Amino acid sequence: MTIKFFNKVYGCQANVADSEGLSKFLLGLGCSQANIESDADLIIINTCAVREKAEQKLFSFIGRLADLKKAKPYLKIGIIGCVASYKKQELYTSFDCINFVHGAREEIGMLQEYLKEIVLHLQQVKQKHQANPIAKIRSIKQVRDIKNFLSKIKNQAPILNKESISNLNLKIHACGTQQISDSDLLLRSHINIMTGCNKYCAYCIVPFTRGREISYPFAEILQAVKKDLDRGVKEINLLGQNVNSYIDPETRAKFPELLKQVADLAGDFWVRFVSAHPQDMTQDLFDVMSQHRDKLTAYLHFPLQSGSNKILKAMNRNYSAEEFLQKIEWARMALQGLTITTDIIVGFPGETEEDYLETRKLMEVIKFDQIYSFVYSKRQYTKAFSMSDDCPESVKLKRLMDLQARQREISLERNQAWIGKTLKILVEKQLENGKLLARTEGNTRILVDSHTSLTGKFTNACVENASVVNLFGKLVD
Ligand code: 5AD
Ligand code: SF4
Repeated sequence: MTIKFFNKVYGCQANVADSEGLSKFLLGLGCSQANIESDADLIIINTCAVREKAEQKLFSFIGRLADLKKAKPYLKIGIIGCVASYKKQELYTSFDCINFVHGAREEIGMLQEYLKEIVLHLQQVKQKHQANPIAKIRSIKQVRDIKNFLSKIKNQAPILNKESISNLNLKIHACGTQQISDSDLLLRSHINIMTGCNKYCAYCIVPFTRGREISYPFAEILQAVKKDLDRGVKEINLLGQNVNSYIDPETRAKFPELLKQVADLAGDFWVRFVSAHPQDMTQDLFDVMSQHRDKLTAYLHFPLQSGSNKILKAMNRNYSAEEFLQKIEWARMALQGLTITTDIIVGFPGETEEDYLETRKLMEVIKFDQIYSFVYSKRQYTKAFSMSDDCPESVKLKRLMDLQARQREISLERNQAWIGKTLKILVEKQLENGKLLARTEGNTRILVDSHTSLTGKFTNACVENASVVNLFGKLVD
């Protein structure tokens, strides 16, 4: 009896990696992925606490699931990730439909135990239901006493610490690798190389929800990468809140060494990493990237946050606009054709129009390929929570609109610069109109005409046209 699960992911790539690990684990238990939530027997929602909006979306999504559960009483719903870390009790008390809440700092081994138990229970319920659909609801109580089990786990779950490191996410990546056929999981994989963050940027809740930084063992990471390559993955994403401070707990090897060893593995594949922190970015990392251009992509996500030195200081970012610019210059010197993306926050407490214009000016000098920009969102526990802020929301929104409008022009200009060039591309899928959807080394989307699918393959394309977010091209032999 196949149990269908649905993983809903809000938030950053660390959440994508965690949910990907859970998908692999559940596939390993013999479950299959549902395409939509209404088709699932088990729904796991990975939550993001970075901005209030994401939390609001989460709450309305859970509200909708409550209706789904009325129609399918045996449906199990679990909440994991950052909101699960700091609003565990509130989630349990606000939503009856939730079966378990497992925070981002809790041991993953324990989550695997719940999931095994839940899947076993669901298998029994579904079997009874198929044998006698009319008696389905009455039969639920007679299968395993899952209610008791679930109420017990509400009070368990120790906090992650260095001793529990062997139970961390990487173990999940090792599970069930033989049975994975899902095309998304085959194309690219996301591997957390560390968890938590020690930076304590004044606006950011992550150090409170994910805890302090812990790097995973080098050998385990390499092992996980090898496993993914063996099953045909073409793009490896190494993830950490601040990959530059990665340090192997055993040998003290640092991130450039890890990247080098990953790039030395056999095969035709690409490697990306997020996020680099400008304060800790060193020249040797760019050197390693330039020495392994075949595998280490010329792509850098480099979060600026603000171009005003006053605001950067208040944000506790520990670099100046000038230092940021210098590192961009190093990067562009080392890596020709480099694609650079960034994160920018507008409306941080105390940001004046002049401060905003500093950000705008720096953006004009650097010309990022894409930006991810946000209005500052006040978050509990953070240093900025108690900072006075007299800038109206409407002014902040106006700054955001202005920033994004200018960036659209810059993105178009940057994309148009590729016209006439031939690029290596990785094909994601064939669309209904026959076109191939692929990505370039710089992670830009490219649409290509083709008669054959080529999904999951590297090929070459000549860029013929460009829009703000896409390139368009034709295949080249
Ligand atoms: N408000 C707005 N944006 C935030 N980010 C992090 N915390 C906040 C916040 N409180 C943004 C930063 C970070 C990205 C992942 O989210 O730009 O780099
Ligand atoms: Fe948050 Fe700063 Fe850590 Fe990034 S580096 S996760 S913004 S505290």
